[in-house]
Amino acid sequence: MTQRQPFFYDITLRDGNQSLKKPWNTYEKEIIFNHLVELGVQGVEVGFSAASDMDFEACSRLAQIAPNNIVISGLARAVQGDIIKVAEAIEPANKPRIHTFIAMSPFNMQYVLNKTPEQVRKIAVEAVEFAKKTIGKCGEVQFSVEHFGDCHENIDFVIDSLQEVVKAGATVINLPNTVERTRPKKFVELVEKVYTALPKDIIIAVHNHNDLGMATAATVESYFAGAVQLECALNGLGERAGNTNMYEVAIALHNSGVDVPLNLEKIYETALVVSDMSNVKIYEKAALIGPDALAHRSGIHQDGAIKTKDMEKGAYRPIHPSLIGRKDDEKLGFTSQSGKTAIFEIIAKAGYPISIHEAQRIAPIAKAEAEKIGELSTRNVIDIYNNNVLNIKGAFKHHDLERVSDDTIKLTFSYKGEKYCIEESGNGPVDACIKAIKKAGFNCEFLNYEQKALNMGSDASAMTIMYFKAPNGETIISRGCDESTVQANIKAIFNGLNIIETL
Ligand code: KIV
Ligand code: ZN
Repeated sequence: MTQRQPFFYDITLRDGNQSLKKPWNTYEKEIIFNHLVELGVQGVEVGFSAASDMDFEACSRLAQIAPNNIVISGLARAVQGDIIKVAEAIEPANKPRIHTFIAMSPFNMQYVLNKTPEQVRKIAVEAVEFAKKTIGKCGEVQFSVEHFGDCHENIDFVIDSLQEVVKAGATVINLPNTVERTRPKKFVELVEKVYTALPKDIIIAVHNHNDLGMATAATVESYFAGAVQLECALNGLGERAGNTNMYEVAIALHNSGVDVPLNLEKIYETALVVSDMSNVKIYEKAALIGPDALAHRSGIHQDGAIKTKDMEKGAYRPIHPSLIGRKDDEKLGFTSQSGKTAIFEIIAKAGYPISIHEAQRIAPIAKAEAEKIGELSTRNVIDIYNNNVLNIKGAFKHHDLERVSDDTIKLTFSYKGEKYCIEESGNGPVDACIKAIKKAGFNCEFLNYEQKALNMGSDASAMTIMYFKAPNGETIISRGCDESTVQANIKAIFNGLNIIETL
């Protein structure tokens, strides 16, 4: 089958609107419509003009402002009054379309319409003939088999009827899964049957509701089975669990190598506006647009995400966020399931120096905290870093450093509450302090130190990084931050002693 470019037909302003607790007025519909134009959809069902004067007015307004290349369609039941209303409302559009429908499932014909199949077929054909005559040569007629997804038992009747509907003037045949009751494959099999039976110049459309959460799958697979017009709604708005979500279909097709005729980078911005205007919140876990759609919380996922964050394809994301205009990065949330990589990234991103060894050392402390309070905020992680890297409260406590002469200092400190006051000289204050600590009988095998100027948005402007050899042979890194370099050195020494003490 030669694949044709998909035709995105938006139903937010009709099916979506009819499901809102407060349907949109003309002004509100115009805002959404402008976003649809920016997204680049090929067709818009602007409303159900027979529903109310407000909807009639909105349909006329959108038909007036519509760009010439967009199909503007209005919904009408298979009755002449509705069809005339649509024709009047969308008359200003360059590409007007009347969309009429009737149910053809055995259940609906019997219990809702109370009509025989022959009566329904006649109504469908007459409605299409009337719509065609009313819209004239410059417009089109779309016919929908409402409850098509429930037509397994009478599919031959449906196909025969559609052949007559096509002869009557419909050029677009829409196959709705009005209520999603079973698996997508069963629906797609029906779509294939209709596609095979109808002339190839007829556009096959699908319109899937999301009752079981598989509308995207049914729509995407229907495209590969011959459906060209994909009826979707922004944010998946629509009756009950909604209609097919346009963003998911667009990205699934894009990722499958289909040339998708939409400005995908407008998706995220549009989603936020639609949520705001519809008062329908975006679910945390909503695919692509949910606040959590780019969040990683398990250590394994965080590790993979970080290793691939600058690549086109990410280890744990379906698209690069910029494809849909998302500016936020993949988010790392620290929970009891997370690990050192997240600590490292969160602290480094906040502008603080940290090594992966330090991140490894403090990860268990952060995990224990997260077990108690749930996901840690960046502030919580920084506090843990401060308390366990920069200002460690442990057995050793520094009290005072007095300069006695050029090369001599008096160091006052305590260990487990016992106070020491030692005078010692050395090659500079660091050397003298280390010697004083050793003189007091403590192991303090100092290896090296470096100093860095800092800009961490606090008073601290100097950072000392010290390396010690712990009694178990491990090399320990400790840090100290202060406005004064000497104080930064002292803090680093005592932080180091306290880290060694915990090993
Ligand atoms: O869900 C449906 O069947 C419809 C039709 C009116 C197309 O919305
Ligand atoms: Zn619908």
